[in-house]
Amino acid sequence: MKILITGGAGFIGSHVVRRFATSYPQYHVFNLDKLTYAGNLENLRDVEKLPNYTFIKGDIVDGDFINQIFEEYNFHAVIHLAAESHVDRSIISPMDFIMTNIVGTVNLLNAAKGNWQEAGGKEISGSGSGSSSHSDPENRKLFYHVSTDEVYGTLGDTGYFTEETAYDPHSPYSASKASSDHLVRAYHDTYKLPITISNCSNNYGPNHFPEKLIPLAIHNIKNNKPIPVYGKGENIRDWLYVEDHATAIDVIFHNAKVGDTYNIGGHNEWKNIDLINLLCNIMDKKLGRAKGESAKLITYVKDRQGHDLRYAIDSSKLQRELNWKPSLQFEEGLEKTVDWYLANDEWLNHVTSGAYKNYYETQYSHR
Ligand code: NAD
Ligand code: TYD
Repeated sequence: MKILITGGAGFIGSHVVRRFATSYPQYHVFNLDKLTYAGNLENLRDVEKLPNYTFIKGDIVDGDFINQIFEEYNFHAVIHLAAESHVDRSIISPMDFIMTNIVGTVNLLNAAKGNWQEAGGKEISGSGSGSSSHSDPENRKLFYHVSTDEVYGTLGDTGYFTEETAYDPHSPYSASKASSDHLVRAYHDTYKLPITISNCSNNYGPNHFPEKLIPLAIHNIKNNKPIPVYGKGENIRDWLYVEDHATAIDVIFHNAKVGDTYNIGGHNEWKNIDLINLLCNIMDKKLGRAKGESAKLITYVKDRQGHDLRYAIDSSKLQRELNWKPSLQFEEGLEKTVDWYLANDEWLNHVTSGAYKNYYETQYSHR
């Protein structure tokens, strides 16, 4: 089976590429990535030498190019992760998000539809609504769209996002992801394209670009720089270790019913300020600092515009139907993450120069 994974040089994509290329030597994994500021082939150094892995540099916004690679390789399946992914950037430059997350997704849908219709005659094989997608693993087709819980909007103090929660996105990022989710479903309903979608909560772990809360805080604590906490630090996110997300994607890819949607989350809610305090304690220990030293760097800054208060995922459908559950406790995962960042100075130095440096220096003036 030839699987096209988009955005495989990014944070989550690199873990998904590694999992598929190493666990399934019988598959060939094609990683299509534009290598934006967030894409980094250093994330895949150990995978590059595998015979069942090919990197393709390219932009999903370029429809002709996408059609061309489908014609050349005849992919059986797509796992689509390529996206602009940072909410703060979407507030500054929404159009990049519209182009990549919406137009790019439609280009992939069109190419898959065209290629799979050609291969399977009028009907796209494996497209029966509700049918299991693996009766014939070699011939089945699947467009797996990786999405976020942010499409559901925000929660108050109680309740969870389920697969039935109505979409109510607030940021340009989440609105662009919601739009792409709707388009993926529309291609299923209209053209019978075999699709599945998962909506996951906030990920953390190795290879995370240090503009998102956890890696930014680790980077700043290490360098004795202020840790920016938006507003009062009372917003809540539900954190999942990135390898647990990759495992969930594997399970869903192989077992989901075509057309179905799954929420993925760790049942692991943290107020931002509590998370930062926990991280500061871990960093004090790891860096041999006195207890409380790192927490002195906490700096409350102006709140994010339209800042969603709380995300919390109900992933019981995935647990019940496909027997997936997260493997790591948060404290353990966070410590593993800190260890990875402290052991990978070169990676961190590399990604914090160039485009990131400019972003970091200007981010506060934009909010
Ligand atoms: P990321 O920003 O780390 O990586 C995105 C990757 O996509 C990069 O390698 C980048 O080079 C590539 N890319 C961007 N624009 C492209 C284009 N036009 N053409 C080809 N490649 C392009 O993102 P991430 O955090 O790994 O997120 C991956 C996916 O998972 C996204 O679709 C995101 O919406 C979704 N998601 C992320 C989280 C999270 O917590 N990070 C949670 C749930 C869902
Ligand atoms: P982030 O990692 O950007 O993920 P998302 O916005 O997609 O949930 O932010 C996580 C939470 O941390 C969110 O409530 C915003 C907050 N935050 C800060 O307080 N300071 C920061 O510097 C960043 C990047 C985020």
